[in-house]
Amino acid sequence: MNKKIKNILQKKNKSKIISLTAYSKNIAKILDNYCDIILVGDSVANVLYAQKNTHKISLKKIIEHSASVRQGVKRSLLVVDMPKGTYGDVKTAEKNARLVIKSTGCDAIKLESNKKNYKIIKVLVEKNIPIMGHIGFTPQFKKKFKVEGQTNSQIKKLYREAQLIENAGAFAIVLECLSPNAANVITKNLKIPTIGIGSSDNCDGQILVTDDMLGLSGFYPKFVKKYVRLDRIIEKAVKEYSKDVKLGKFPSSKNYLNGSKRK
Ligand code: KIV
Repeated sequence: MNKKIKNILQKKNKSKIISLTAYSKNIAKILDNYCDIILVGDSVANVLYAQKNTHKISLKKIIEHSASVRQGVKRSLLVVDMPKGTYGDVKTAEKNARLVIKSTGCDAIKLESNKKNYKIIKVLVEKNIPIMGHIGFTPQFKKKFKVEGQTNSQIKKLYREAQLIENAGAFAIVLECLSPNAANVITKNLKIPTIGIGSSDNCDGQILVTDDMLGLSGFYPKFVKKYVRLDRIIEKAVKEYSKDVKLGKFPSSKNYLNGSKRK
């Protein structure tokens, strides 16, 4: 088993698993010192391409972003999301997952659950392709953004889904927008780690979309804590730059490669 995956599994019940998304090398390089898992999420569709959902992002785009991220990742486990429509049957899933791994050097693949694709996970894992599952609000298959697992029967169904994903061989599972009770039942009863987003602290780890927590995306649901308003910081710098150029303060002689300022 991949050593990094083994480390993630060993963290269950010991220490929290830290995860964030990245779409480019420069951000990934910063995250790499602090994250156990870096995910190239299909959320790139919303965040960078202003698409209203994640449905249209292509495998080619995900591969290009992942290849960039790979350049910045040395220690974290690099996981790549398979876009909608690229893993509909076992043969297609294997072909595309292999292409992603070969082109990006990622460590694992993430697939969203549609409550039917357990066999796909099983076959990929048997063929040595490490898989991370994803249940709850799965944007590729659900339209409505709502908290799942509010009743006992819903919790039972979610737990069953998580169990089937674990039994299929996934090494971890994302729980997106689950009630604290549902997250608790699943986390306590699964052997594999759970990574929560909008699913309370009752998970083995947490993930956020990096652009959201940096205050860059403009998408700030309640479960996102904005650690900084990078939008404001960048705006201030750009405003200053614009002023400097207009006033002839930039470039100054300090910025000249050689020679002196034009008279
Ligand atoms: O696409 C993504 O960024 C994700 C995370 C929200 C888990 O799937």
